[in-house]
Amino acid sequence: MNIAVLGAQWGDEGKGKIVDLLTPNFSIVARYQGGHNAGHTVYVNRRKFVLRLLPSGILHDGITCVIGNGVVVDPQALFAEIDELKKAGIAIGDRLVISDKAHLILPYHRELDLLSEARRGERKIGTTSRGIGPAYEDKIARRGVRVGDLANTGSLAEAVRHNVDARNRIIAESKMDAEQVLADLAAFWKRMGPWVTDVSLFLARARAARRSIMFEGAQGTLLDIDHGTYPYVTSSNATTGGVCTGLGIPPRAIDGVIGVAKAYTTRVGEGPLPTELTGEIGNRLRESGQEFGAVTGRPRRCGWYDAVAVRYAVRVNGLDALALTKLDVLDGMRELQICTSYRCNGATLTEFPGEIAQLAACEPVYESVPGWTSPTAGVRRFADLPRDAQRYIARLEELTGVPAAILSTGSGREDTIIREDSVASRWGLELITA
Ligand code: GDP
Ligand code: IMO
Ligand code: MG
Repeated sequence: MNIAVLGAQWGDEGKGKIVDLLTPNFSIVARYQGGHNAGHTVYVNRRKFVLRLLPSGILHDGITCVIGNGVVVDPQALFAEIDELKKAGIAIGDRLVISDKAHLILPYHRELDLLSEARRGERKIGTTSRGIGPAYEDKIARRGVRVGDLANTGSLAEAVRHNVDARNRIIAESKMDAEQVLADLAAFWKRMGPWVTDVSLFLARARAARRSIMFEGAQGTLLDIDHGTYPYVTSSNATTGGVCTGLGIPPRAIDGVIGVAKAYTTRVGEGPLPTELTGEIGNRLRESGQEFGAVTGRPRRCGWYDAVAVRYAVRVNGLDALALTKLDVLDGMRELQICTSYRCNGATLTEFPGEIAQLAACEPVYESVPGWTSPTAGVRRFADLPRDAQRYIARLEELTGVPAAILSTGSGREDTIIREDSVASRWGLELITA
């Protein structure tokens, strides 16, 4: 069984937690897009880890982790992450595989990210300023530098000198030294080389040997470059299609897709968020959900669950099930709202609009449902959830058309319910915490 786990909202849905806890069911965990703009938080015995570039399966012994060609790799960020894990007693050894076709984020990409945001002024995206967009721009413009290029010092030097020179002309105050960039890259290659290979071939052989793979998405459906709330998106395909292009695997290699969604909604950065709550309830969600960015520390915008948006994610990704996270954050709220459709210029919309101006004009139409007083926090059996929490989950399933096969009631591995008789248990997924 090869399963994709990806974001069904605007990112930060709890993908890291879900991927980590499902990892013992697999042999390989593979990232297919994004870069160190991702921040995937995993708690192991109350100890916090934030994975950025490394797949969230890395904390488990014996698991091979793959960084696919669809990912953009900042070598400095990669080694900082590896060193941090090493300090925490997690050895990478030969458990990492990096695609020779993955593009590199170089120092000038970070500068260009900041510059581009400053130039956009009011229309800024609110990026993570990690150089993600500019690195993907170079990839599409066919002037990028790929991991595999590091092996060929002659052509690498030519490309880097050319690119640095071009950037120095765009950024007047930039005096980046191409020779320094090349010296750093040579050092990175020494360390990275042994992990670099043809990932498509590696995964084909793994599949032939019946090793199972989990595909880990970064960001979320509504931040997807094509299907998200363009232009307020990231620069890669976070949706299911990205799995194939970002790893070089055929569509039939994906046996199932799990969308991770919070029991409410958050977004970090700019762009429309129809169910956003700017008042007291929004603050309450932010405080109890600890909604501050794992990468940038920025406060996340919070709102009610948006069933229109998640239903859209179900369609675009072909989700088989949802992993519904952070139910416990709603504990103690007397009444909850669920957005079931939008009102837009006098019309009712039940499908997520593809155009940003239309989305910005949308007002959520809410259905009120009762909250619950006894806590869901830490509950590990569906039957032990308060009745109103069970009803809330059932209503979300009805509105999105897919089962909530996995429920999360806290940040720890154990605070999870994999529902019996659900598609997840039919796939043989178990909660293995030992
Ligand atoms: P990701 O980017 O999708 O991996 O999500 P983030 O790690 O950026 O943000 C999710 C945050 O919610 C992290 O701090 C998690 O530890 C936390 N989290 C995940 N699931 C739950 C849950 O069920 N309840 C609570 N209270 N926190 C959770
Ligand atoms: P994970 O994997 C939430 C947002 C940024 C910004 C937009 C573009 O942890 O869910 P970028 O730096 O990618 O060019 O920024 O996308 N963004 C995320 N929001 N979670 C993420 O990752 C994000 N990665 C990027 O805030 O709005
Ligand atoms: Mg995150």
